Amino acid sequence: MSTGSCPVDHSAMAAAGCPVSANAAAFDPFGEAYQADPPEAVRWSREEEPVFYSPEIGYWVVTRYDDVKAVFRDNVLFSPSIALEKITPVSEEATATLAKYGYAMNRTLVNEDEPEHMPRRRALMEPFTPEHLAGHEPMVRKLTREYVDRFVDAGKADLVDEMLWEVPLTVALHFLGVPEEDMETLRRYSIAHTVNTWGRPSPEEQVAVAEAVGKFWQFAGTVVEKLRQDPSGPGWMPFSIRAQREQPDVITDSYLHSIMMAGIVAAHETTANAAANAIKLLLENRSVWEELCADPALIPNAVEECLRHSGSVAAWRRLVTADTTIGGVPIPRGAKLLIVNSSANRDERHFDNADAFDIRRENASDHLTFGYGSHQCMGKNLARMELQIFLEELTTRLPHLELVPDQEFTYLPNTSFRGPDHLWVQWDPSANPERSDRSVLRRHRPVRIGEPSTRAITRTVTVESVEPAADGVVTLTLTDGTGKPLPAWSPGAHIDLDLDGLSRQYSLCGDPADTRRYRIAVLREPESRGGSRYVHERLRPGSTLTLRGPRNHFRLDPAARHYVLVAGGIGITPIIAMADHLRSAGASYELHYCGRTASGMALLDRARRDHGERLTVHCGEEGGRLDVTTLVAEERDGVQVYACGPERLLAALEEQAESWPADTLHIEHFTSIKRELDPTVEHGFDVELADSGLTVHVGPGQTVLAALRAANIDISSDCEEGLCGSCEAPVLDGDVDHRDLVLTKAERAANTVMMTCCSRACGSKLTLGL
Ligand code: HEM
Ligand code: FES
Repeated sequence: MSTGSCPVDHSAMAAAGCPVSANAAAFDPFGEAYQADPPEAVRWSREEEPVFYSPEIGYWVVTRYDDVKAVFRDNVLFSPSIALEKITPVSEEATATLAKYGYAMNRTLVNEDEPEHMPRRRALMEPFTPEHLAGHEPMVRKLTREYVDRFVDAGKADLVDEMLWEVPLTVALHFLGVPEEDMETLRRYSIAHTVNTWGRPSPEEQVAVAEAVGKFWQFAGTVVEKLRQDPSGPGWMPFSIRAQREQPDVITDSYLHSIMMAGIVAAHETTANAAANAIKLLLENRSVWEELCADPALIPNAVEECLRHSGSVAAWRRLVTADTTIGGVPIPRGAKLLIVNSSANRDERHFDNADAFDIRRENASDHLTFGYGSHQCMGKNLARMELQIFLEELTTRLPHLELVPDQEFTYLPNTSFRGPDHLWVQWDPSANPERSDRSVLRRHRPVRIGEPSTRAITRTVTVESVEPAADGVVTLTLTDGTGKPLPAWSPGAHIDLDLDGLSRQYSLCGDPADTRRYRIAVLREPESRGGSRYVHERLRPGSTLTLRGPRNHFRLDPAARHYVLVAGGIGITPIIAMADHLRSAGASYELHYCGRTASGMALLDRARRDHGERLTVHCGEEGGRLDVTTLVAEERDGVQVYACGPERLLAALEEQAESWPADTLHIEHFTSIKRELDPTVEHGFDVELADSGLTVHVGPGQTVLAALRAANIDISSDCEEGLCGSCEAPVLDGDVDHRDLVLTKAERAANTVMMTCCSRACGSKLTLGL
């Protein structure tokens, strides 16, 4: 069925013919390929034609990450008003049936235009904030446990029918504050509503569905009325009824009625499908499932990676309100857009090795499964909580779970909501851990509310060798405990090791081409509180360690004409990896290595052997101190200096760099500059969020990062002390008081980004591109 005619004027191009490509003409989101795997079905588009017109559905289709995000970002140019339009045209009979029930579903947040949308979203946001969501954790946990109790001894279950469908619906009803006695009926009706909006019911089915939807509408009205009698209880609906008293013009009666119905739909099937997709994906990648069983701290990031890789919302819709271009393609006013967020989530331009399922992916939570900007899913953190608890409960109680082999997965044919209709799993109940150890039932980790912390993304490595490298220095060689390749790294990268409860950073100094092992050199610090002492005294071949990273915020700029590398003492580790790289790339470089005694300079033999004349050794006991004033000669343009070493050396270089062109000096700090915020000295300020349409106040004792998170804005972080660069946010306006060690002088002066964990506003306001 072709629902759209080609929007291009053919009369002007008779010779060239219609410009809709063969692939675009063949695209059908109800066809087999898209139904089987949406991002795969539009791979051709991501690669060749990222914005195309589909005559089959009469929509323009957008498939690349940047374009999809740009559409989400601008909710005025790209109106969400068609987001819930029925995808299958409704028969007259069904419309009459709905009218019989006075069905008057109104705009509800998700499909509402400005200026109405934002005041409502703000007025209704509070119950979704992390602080309030924390109160729901025990309820979600209890429900999940009760459902698992029902089948844990059965040995086989359809997880969708026996748990994943009902728990999110019941959580949604609790969250909404619906009285228990009404839950069963609403549960039945909400299923009909889903079919009504997203499904492809036949004309006869449409009437039956319309009957149920009409009843759902009436019943939702009754529940609202009942709650209105006493709106003092917990939940989003009583909260909204109370908010209506404060702002009756913003939250109207018909609006309350509509969100009662739409809230259930928004919260239910999205989450049920996301959970089924996640468990299916994990069991299909059995070794990953086992990693989660062994280390539940990986669950929050695994949830994000599941939402990225196989999310439950495959595509969303927007209406173009003025002539514009998307990804360079002219799009007329009135065009309808199908923005394929599941395809954006597999875009190589944003996610390295995007098709791979990697639960340690650091930017997994950049996925667009929850949308983005001012309409971004308000319930995302409730959904994340449910998914984390489901995975924790199942990996703890049924670690031996496996998919029933050879089952065929079926999906409700539709463009957007995606999850298997059934998910059959099996296990040997006699091997259930709780049969031999009841304590597994008491074990649980607190839920991570919000986007995951990269701190929790760890892997276990084995020490292959510990070898002396200089006085007080050993080199450690680490391999993956399971024999798998380790993640790739580039010169300048470091890893974080957990050493006897302390986290310590070490630069990698081995060969990046060797993916089987990492090498680091560790100096025994005289004042060691345990980190380096532990390495020297306790680690032996065969010991295991927990590692995070690698991460690189000390990257070589490939564009330099000449590189000056400066290492002081153990600071040689990142520098030697850089020197090796420059040598094999045939670049122009020189290497300066400073130390007090030759016998204390690690990797000196290797530096001499591999870097010969490029190397100058500045050894204190031989009177060879480095003169920083002569480092950069007259011909300064295109010279870059990279330095790592003691703070004294770095400070001298920083002073000298004042006379060098901007951005000449790059230094690696490992020392925290973290200082407690003193509210008596700091001032509060407002942060306006251009994409989300919010203004957030940052108190004098609060970081921007903390204020953003409290307002439900996703922003990742790692070190939270200005060292790593992961909490970066784009700055659109306002002067930043930069307090990090990540940005260069020139970057600070450009004032286009800031590190939200430590930097602040100079004045009373900043505008960020979030
Ligand atoms: C909006 C996805 C769970 C409540 C949205 C949007 C998407 C989405 C794609 C539209 C975003 C946009 O236009 O930018 C999901 C997914 C979920 C989920 C994938 C589960 C994995 C929930 C839950 C709730 C909820 C549990 C409620 C408790 C909402 C609301 C909106 C929304 C109220 C409208 C926000 C607005 O337009 O201002 N969701 N959702 N969602 N979602 Fe969710
Ligand atoms: Fe590391 Fe902000 S979290 S710089």
